Amino acid sequence: MKHNSIKPSEITPEKVFFNRREILKSAVAAGLFPALATQADGAVLPPGGEFANLASWADSLTDTPNSFEEISGYNNYYEFGTRKEDPARNAHTLITDPWSVSVTGEAGRTGTYTLEDILAPHTLQERIYRLRCVEAWSMIVPWVGFPLGDLLTRFEPTSQARYVQFFTLADRDQMPGLRSRVLDWPYREGLTIEEAMHPLALLTVGVYGKVLPNQNGAPLRLIVPWKYGFKSIKSIVRIHFTSQQPRTSWNMSAPHEYGFYSNVNPNVDHPRWSQATERRLGGGLFAPRIPTLMFNGYAEEVAHLYTGLDLVRNY
Ligand code: MTE
Repeated sequence: MKHNSIKPSEITPEKVFFNRREILKSAVAAGLFPALATQADGAVLPPGGEFANLASWADSLTDTPNSFEEISGYNNYYEFGTRKEDPARNAHTLITDPWSVSVTGEAGRTGTYTLEDILAPHTLQERIYRLRCVEAWSMIVPWVGFPLGDLLTRFEPTSQARYVQFFTLADRDQMPGLRSRVLDWPYREGLTIEEAMHPLALLTVGVYGKVLPNQNGAPLRLIVPWKYGFKSIKSIVRIHFTSQQPRTSWNMSAPHEYGFYSNVNPNVDHPRWSQATERRLGGGLFAPRIPTLMFNGYAEEVAHLYTGLDLVRNY
């Protein structure tokens, strides 16, 4: 992955955001609306539209989130260019409505589903996660989404479905970055079925209470908080259940640098740099390096998924 120096910028406290959350919490406490009764009304919301009645999540990080400007202005989305500022500049050409997702492979209910079908029965939550990029920077992001496993279960995966593969849209007319052969398009990622069913894996439709900006992977992306950021595939158009370990974009491009698992692991260095520490985005030029945590801080929740697996060989 290309390296650009992190531009110094101040963390802007999102006062409006926190006020809204406080208002929401007191409204829930006062019984004005039940805490978990939100329908996924985001499906019909335009870019920048706000979700109503978001349920908050008890296990969210308490660190101050990065600003909306940082989260939506410094991105990796190679379909729109390889520089961090390219996606924010170029991703307006992505058409996110209408959107559909096809489901293939080892499942009882395959076919093509509209975004509205996908979202309708799910309750949207706000979850504040740390995103740890393989390039050794991190940020704190208030995502909006619902557990991936809740969706996958609806497709009735068969006993042969040991892995799940995800694909991003690949449309040259909408995505100028596809003219470059920096990756083999479409961008693809994969998880074991156990990883995909883990309640921390979040199918994500928003950030800061709003519909995802295109550069962050609208209208539907994955967030797997215990893995390096490149596993968190954007703008998903296909979900494929399979018995074989699926191919993944970064592993296809540089197999010695990026493995299938790609769990955040401070003890296993990238061949070209250490993964022991990270720099929080927005801390400015002199941001101190902070220790990277095993499984990005989620060891207690996810370490059991890897019992008996050699994490040095299975990087
Ligand atoms: N998904 C697609 N389709 N294309 C990409 O280039 N980049 C990945 C991941 N998902 C990428 C992608 C990488 S390297 C990271 S770090 C995260 O998206 C960045 O997510 P963010 O821009 O929302 O912070």
